[in-house]
Amino acid sequence: MNLLLFGAPGSGKGTQAEFLKEKHGIPQISTGDMFRAEAARGTEEGKRVDAIMKSGELVPDDLTIAIVRERLKQPDTKPGMIFDGFPRTLPQAEALDQVMRESGRRFDNALYLVAPEAELIARLSGRLTCPKDGRTFHPKFNPPPVAGICPFDGTPLIQRKDDTEETARTRVQVYLRDTMPVIDYYRRQGLVQEIDALRSIPEVRAEIEKALEGVNAA
Ligand code: AP5
Ligand code: MG
Repeated sequence: MNLLLFGAPGSGKGTQAEFLKEKHGIPQISTGDMFRAEAARGTEEGKRVDAIMKSGELVPDDLTIAIVRERLKQPDTKPGMIFDGFPRTLPQAEALDQVMRESGRRFDNALYLVAPEAELIARLSGRLTCPKDGRTFHPKFNPPPVAGICPFDGTPLIQRKDDTEETARTRVQVYLRDTMPVIDYYRRQGLVQEIDALRSIPEVRAEIEKALEGVNAA
């Protein structure tokens, strides 16, 4: 199953991708996670990417498309994958379509997690992230069993550099400007199903599972 997961920053893409990858046994392709890993390596490119992410703007298309192209060569993507945070611009969507065509793959579904801006900001400004595995938590909406500690690997949770209220607002604006046209692009292909992401994490998960009923598992 090749699945596109859309939604503004804080809509719950990463949270739901965790469930989906476990249930369907397919990897999550998160360009945000890939860029954070590059930034943590401290390379020159990592430093450039880190500064862009901190501002809330997008990393240039050529670099983003290149890392996804490389990632799709890995054998674990053969049975399918979940795209989380990619494509985010029309040139990225066109490039991805080309790679999919070249490799004889097609998308089964595009889920669009919809939530209002005030909710997104509340979620992002409280979000806690595990720097090791990328899982996210929230003191109010998804508290870890021991405050401040990732229950999966014991790592102290951190606040992402771009999770300040100011940067979160910029990210939402960038999303409206650059990524809404991408959702329309897939809508015209009849792929998009909207999910009400304002509900609780288990409710959103259940709605996604319902939306995917009948979609081939492999
Ligand atoms: P990226 O890492 O992709 O961040 P994002 O799109 O801004 O999305 P988030 O990860 O912030 O939100 P999410 O929807 O995953 O929410 P989550 O599940 O964590 O990108 C970061 C940056 O990298 C970009 O700004 C850009 O600079 C660069 N980048 C990445 N991809 C790029 C691309 N393709 N092109 C160019 N640049 C790119 O949930 C958020 C919080 O809410 C958590 O605390 C969670 O516990 C909580 N929560 C989740 N669901 C619910 C719920 N239903 N109810 C209540 N709380 C909930
Ligand atoms: Mg995410």
